[in-house]
Amino acid sequence: MDFENRIITSDFTPEDNDIENSLRPKTLDDYIGQEKVKENLKIYIEAAKGRGEALDHVLLYGPPGLGKTTLACIIANEMGVNIRVTSGPAIEKQGDLAALLTNLQEGDVLFIDEIHRLNRQVEEVLYPAMEDGALDIIIGKGPSARSIRLDLPHFTLIGATTRSGQLSAPLRDRFGVIFRLEMYSTEQLATIVKRSAGILQISIDDDGAVQIASRSRGTPRIANRLLKRSRDFAQVKYDGVISREAAVDALGKMEIDELGLDNIDRILLTTMIRSYNGGPVGLETIAASIGEEAVTIEDVYEPFLMQIGFLSRTPRGRCVTALAYKHLGFEQEGQQTLV
Ligand code: ADE
Repeated sequence: MDFENRIITSDFTPEDNDIENSLRPKTLDDYIGQEKVKENLKIYIEAAKGRGEALDHVLLYGPPGLGKTTLACIIANEMGVNIRVTSGPAIEKQGDLAALLTNLQEGDVLFIDEIHRLNRQVEEVLYPAMEDGALDIIIGKGPSARSIRLDLPHFTLIGATTRSGQLSAPLRDRFGVIFRLEMYSTEQLATIVKRSAGILQISIDDDGAVQIASRSRGTPRIANRLLKRSRDFAQVKYDGVISREAAVDALGKMEIDELGLDNIDRILLTTMIRSYNGGPVGLETIAASIGEEAVTIEDVYEPFLMQIGFLSRTPRGRCVTALAYKHLGFEQEGQQTLV
């Protein structure tokens, strides 16, 4: 069966899914970056295949867009097995998970995105499944209720999460392999952008790719999105080639600055500076002030702002750093000097 056809998802529109899937590398050798993860995975995969066993359960964590789903699909492909893709919130009842587990074939991968959002009852079905390859089913009610145990095929659970701290200890302890995905360098992202451009038949030169890469916040998903939008500008205004000039124009029109900050980043930092004197200020207070959800700020905006040293977390709340004041043209006291 074709690799893409084995991916079962419910989160994306078919169109998005086709493009996303066409850009996903299929093998570890095609996957750019995350060198340590790749190096170890190659060993674990080769060893498991050599023993004729399923790969041990794998937990992938890190900010969104770094390639957790891609890596799960690659693992299944390299192991030569099917992958079932689902997410924590999609598995509402114990029976939903039981149905997924009993439909797996020997060695298959079950990928659960946002695994920190599984509910307690469902998690409890997962423990014996992960540990003993068994499904415990309660039959009947009251005093006559009894439990029967069904054997499951050997399988690999791959869990992905942006917040490993929110996983319960019993769940986390059942993963034999735990990887943290790192943000990508500009150089790695430029390579990803050129690879994606090749697949989508977009003309781009090296400078254009570097412009997109350097404004993609260390994240391939953002790089691929900016590539597609830059293509629109190039097609309409620049003879179809994403040159440096075309990319700078496109990214400027999208209000993405040289560091990759977008409007929301700027509103977040400026609100903290103007209304809270740069902090310390609590996450919930910031969220209420700018009308975003606290989890979105925490998962999507903060990791990058902390990575570039614009935001720090202290026990008393978040603080804007001197570097961010300078970048936004504020004096440290909250006085704006540049526009
Ligand atoms: N597309 C998205 N992430 C990628 C990666 N890490 N390597 C290659 N292409 C990608």
